[in-house]
Amino acid sequence: MIEDRVGDPLTQVETLRDEALASIASAGDMRALEEARIRYTGKKSTLSQLSSLMAKLTPDERRILGQALNSAKGRIELALEARAEELSALELDLRLQAERLDITLPGTPYPRGYEHPLLKTVRDILAIFAQMGYSIYEGTEVEWDRYNFELLNIPKDHPARDMQDTFYLTEDVLMRTQTSPAQIHVMHAQEPPIRTVVPGFVYRNEAEDASHGDQFFQIEGLCVDEDITLGDLKGTLTEVAHRFFGPERRIRFRPSYFPFTEPSAEMDIECAICHGEGCRSCGYEGWLELGGSGMVHPQVLRNGGYDPDRVSGFAFGIGPDRYTMQKYGINDLRLFREDDLRFLRQFG
Ligand code: DAH
Repeated sequence: MIEDRVGDPLTQVETLRDEALASIASAGDMRALEEARIRYTGKKSTLSQLSSLMAKLTPDERRILGQALNSAKGRIELALEARAEELSALELDLRLQAERLDITLPGTPYPRGYEHPLLKTVRDILAIFAQMGYSIYEGTEVEWDRYNFELLNIPKDHPARDMQDTFYLTEDVLMRTQTSPAQIHVMHAQEPPIRTVVPGFVYRNEAEDASHGDQFFQIEGLCVDEDITLGDLKGTLTEVAHRFFGPERRIRFRPSYFPFTEPSAEMDIECAICHGEGCRSCGYEGWLELGGSGMVHPQVLRNGGYDPDRVSGFAFGIGPDRYTMQKYGINDLRLFREDDLRFLRQFG
């Protein structure tokens, strides 16, 4: 009987099929499923080995075993496909779960930079002047001796040169000691009326201490028009100081001397650190110099190509370093250049 001869293989096929279907159904992921596929349908699987029995069987026996094998293989393949689909849907679900974007979470903090206190002061002061109708002109840090000194009434033998020793590139070319030479450049380039500020670095050959450095910032100002008076100068600079420091800070003007202005004045602010008592940062004066100013000397107007009988003007040079120290109560100029983050972070 056929059943007698292939009965055993037929039972084996059924057992194997059920085993395969069970392990496919319980495969928890694609890897387990792939292992089941190889184990039950691969070349070395028992089912394949059973197929090789066929050659030894009669045609009828072959038909019966062949049908059994084909139907087992067919069901296993269907089961593999179905489980593969299930598993990939499951895996997608898991991934969607894991990668879900929670838009209610706070963002990753991104550190933001901020301005150096000096730069902030410069921008604040320039903004105040801009509000008052001033334009901004940029001069050059490398300057002719002629512009830095001679055209500003400081000839070669003038004692004012002693206070403004600098770094010379050639005999005629130097690192500017002041932004004042820009006054001449502006006058050469434009006709009155002039209302201009010139921000920039200046250089001095100087020993460093708490209030002196060999490179520092200045903002030059020039106002030239018909009938400009000392009252305009005082009004303008006081207004700028009050807008910058607040209207309660006391300002004073002191007669002074500069070769390129006549008369000249220095503007002081009451020391923020000692409130007039005198301390290290104000040189024990109680007041701190904020900058120089004066009515533009007729000869300087002439050097700029203007007619002093037709126009007059005032000029000023202010030190943003000093403004910054006085505004924030900083007692040592060197802090601005040391790039110590413990200092700088306080302005963030
Ligand atoms: N240039 C002068 C200095 O560096 C400052 C100064 C004084 C500028 C009077 C001016 C001025 O424009 O009128 O010491």
